[in-house]
Amino acid sequence: MSNYTLAGPFTQVVTMSGLPMNGPIPDEKLQVIKNAGIWIRDERIVRIMDYDDLLHQAEREEAILIPIEEPAVALPGFTDAHTHICFAGSRARDYAMRNAGKTYLEIAEAGGGIWDTVRQTRAATPEQLASNTVRLAGEHLLRGTTTIEVKSGYGLNVAEELKMLRAIRQADRYTEADLVATCLAAHMKPKDYDGSETEYLQLIIRELFPQLRSERLTHRVDAFVEQSAFSPAAIATYFEAAREQGFDITVHADQFTTGGSKTAVEYGAVSADHLEASGETEINMLATSGTIAVALPGASMGLGCAYTPARKILDAGGTVAIATDHNPGSAPMGNLLTQAALLGTFQKLSNAEVLAGITFRAAHALRLQDRGTLAVGMLADIAVFNTADYREVLYHQGMMLPETVIKRGRKIKKL
Ligand code: NIG
Ligand code: FE
Repeated sequence: MSNYTLAGPFTQVVTMSGLPMNGPIPDEKLQVIKNAGIWIRDERIVRIMDYDDLLHQAEREEAILIPIEEPAVALPGFTDAHTHICFAGSRARDYAMRNAGKTYLEIAEAGGGIWDTVRQTRAATPEQLASNTVRLAGEHLLRGTTTIEVKSGYGLNVAEELKMLRAIRQADRYTEADLVATCLAAHMKPKDYDGSETEYLQLIIRELFPQLRSERLTHRVDAFVEQSAFSPAAIATYFEAAREQGFDITVHADQFTTGGSKTAVEYGAVSADHLEASGETEINMLATSGTIAVALPGASMGLGCAYTPARKILDAGGTVAIATDHNPGSAPMGNLLTQAALLGTFQKLSNAEVLAGITFRAAHALRLQDRGTLAVGMLADIAVFNTADYREVLYHQGMMLPETVIKRGRKIKKL
């Protein structure tokens, strides 16, 4: 079979290339190529040019065709840089209680909260966890998300964290999306652990970190830095160890109270995620650091909280990615396009800024340089929408589904 694939014709190819990693982006800066085809060799983009010319070449080379019905807009496949889609069970009770006015403490006393998902996840078999993850990844994929970060953090002891990370790796083999695993053993101090926070973290450093390396389960370490989870002081040695051992660091930061973003910047984290509570000091600190701000509008919607101050971070010269935080507790929706569009509405972000947040800026938050734009040499990860005007995509706030999704040059079959 030919190594070549031609996808098209596209009324518009929104390449997202040539745009800055930091700061605001006016829509006028978007590169939109009209009436084009995308020529692919194996998994990567070789050319984007006039469709009819490419069609002649396709005939000569016996290329595989991915025919597209016009009108059609091509966007880079989306990257969701923060999810917790490896879990078991539901937290519908938490949601109902929270909306009925119950407090965090009342919900926890009724057996809810993160610990509830830990219990349900521990009770699941590795196969069940992997198949749940594959199912949810498949739903994301059909909505145009071709790369998905997935955290552990519902195991909270060495064996159960390993179970989760192995399940994520297994899921990665079965889903056509690319999964990027992250170790979130520092999600909260497990309720069944008798020692101090520091002792728990030492145990993880000593017994889990070497396994992450030897089994190549992940190169990323996350922690929930928050009054209800780990303090900046408690997490310091944890991040020092992670940094020394060469892990990329990412932080659940400033979700309810500040402190996490400062820790993130101090340890050179690739990203600081949440930031709903960030004020001017944190915004300026992040904007002048190399740490990417990841907005999680799904958590704001799930909890009824403020949005991440994305507008201010961009205006201060920072970079903002947008992710779903898809998890059973605070962000059960998991619809990236809906959430990104609504963040844009509430934060006054241009189309270009929102699209950047779920494409090349999101890929950057995972340190992936081979995706996020439609350009020569990049992976052929493409979300195709049935419209002549790319602005329709965010305008429909996630209700317009891609008519075709291409992952690594292959058309994804609908479920
Ligand atoms: O990103 N903030 C902490 N952790 C998750 C929530 C996980 C859960 O509630 O199960 C978050 O929102
Ligand atoms: Fe999260």
